[in-house]
Amino acid sequence: MNKITYNKQYLDNKDIKEVIKSLKNDLITTGPYIKNFENKLSKYLKVKNVVTCSSGTSALYIALRALNVNKNDVVIIPAINFIASINMAHLLGARIYLCDVNENTGQMTPEKLLECIKINKIKKIKAVITMYLGGNPNNIVNFYKLKKKYNFYLIEDSCHALGSSYYFKKKKIKIGSCYHSDIATFSLHPVKSITTGEGGFLTTNSKFLSEKFKLLRSHGIIRSSRGKKYWKYDVSQPSFNFRMSDINASLGYSQLSKLDKFVKKRNFIVNLYENKLSDISDKVKILKANNNIISSYHLLIMIIDFKKLKIKKDKLIYLLNKSGIYPQYHYDPIYKFSYYKFLQRGKKFESSEKYYQSAISVPIYYSLSIKNLMKVIKSVKDIIKKYEK
Ligand SMILES: Cc1ncc(COP(=O)(O)O)c(C=O)c1O
Repeated sequence: MNKITYNKQYLDNKDIKEVIKSLKNDLITTGPYIKNFENKLSKYLKVKNVVTCSSGTSALYIALRALNVNKNDVVIIPAINFIASINMAHLLGARIYLCDVNENTGQMTPEKLLECIKINKIKKIKAVITMYLGGNPNNIVNFYKLKKKYNFYLIEDSCHALGSSYYFKKKKIKIGSCYHSDIATFSLHPVKSITTGEGGFLTTNSKFLSEKFKLLRSHGIIRSSRGKKYWKYDVSQPSFNFRMSDINASLGYSQLSKLDKFVKKRNFIVNLYENKLSDISDKVKILKANNNIISSYHLLIMIIDFKKLKIKKDKLIYLLNKSGIYPQYHYDPIYKFSYYKFLQRGKKFESSEKYYQSAISVPIYYSLSIKNLMKVIKSVKDIIKKYEK
């Protein structure tokens, strides 16, 4: 039985040809494909600076380092999240506060952020990292207002939201344009909107920050005399090798031309799920974006009212596995992981708990066939009907 996973990449012959082309270049890293991919992204996202790197995780690390996040600096991050932003901030010694999320969207909201600041009596915030769970960029303008009021850096962990946009004063604004933030970070892992195999990038409209990104992605090395003394360089601060290769960049360069097509198909799939499950909508809701948002729909999140069922989330997943369908959790709240239990700080995170108990991610990707899509929908429906109270 073929596995139907929650997400997967789509590669075509054009992608393969572009990668082969990159292999024939003299430089297969720090070469022309890196520049071309960065320029193509910059044009697509309408942002001044794009800096590629090795992953979404290294993008977050670079962002925090570029903003000089140091020991005991306060960083606020939503409790429902992938572990990368927390790990990176923690490794830099930041004092992390987890923010509860909205129980229906799984996302931090400006109201929850204010609550977090108040209940934790936070005086000075260095950075807030928003995360657009599933690809829906909610509440950006209000987060930006809070940034101005409290004077913190705003990083958008946009790893789910490449290809998403929102309307502001009737203007369509792309995630990654940094119209309402300091930095946006992206992942190009195979399950994301487009892929480079592994990879990531940062965007910013600040020339100063983008120069720092370049420095931090390559050991902290500064090469000032490219011409005559090409062998000379200085090191301004220690860092890692976070560079993307030209081979990876060539794949991204080719994939980017398909991004809008991918997003369109994902929107189609979401609407189909919603439509076909409408007769059980009292038990199963599809997490959809608000009207002023165009979502990349990186994830298809179902919110299930398990109070109306005789089974819990894990049992539902096991039953779907039996039909070859492999849903996912996005995500376990961070404070549940043994290492990060201390971040709970005695708080309850009631909405994160509610969201966590009801949300599962089911398959959504460009090459998902109608046959398999209908199979997923039928399997979910059959189980829900069989186990309703
Ligand atoms: C929200 C979020 N942030 C960061 C990352 C890290 O990206 P990468 O896997 O490319 O390091 C991911 C990847 O899954 C993610 O979903």
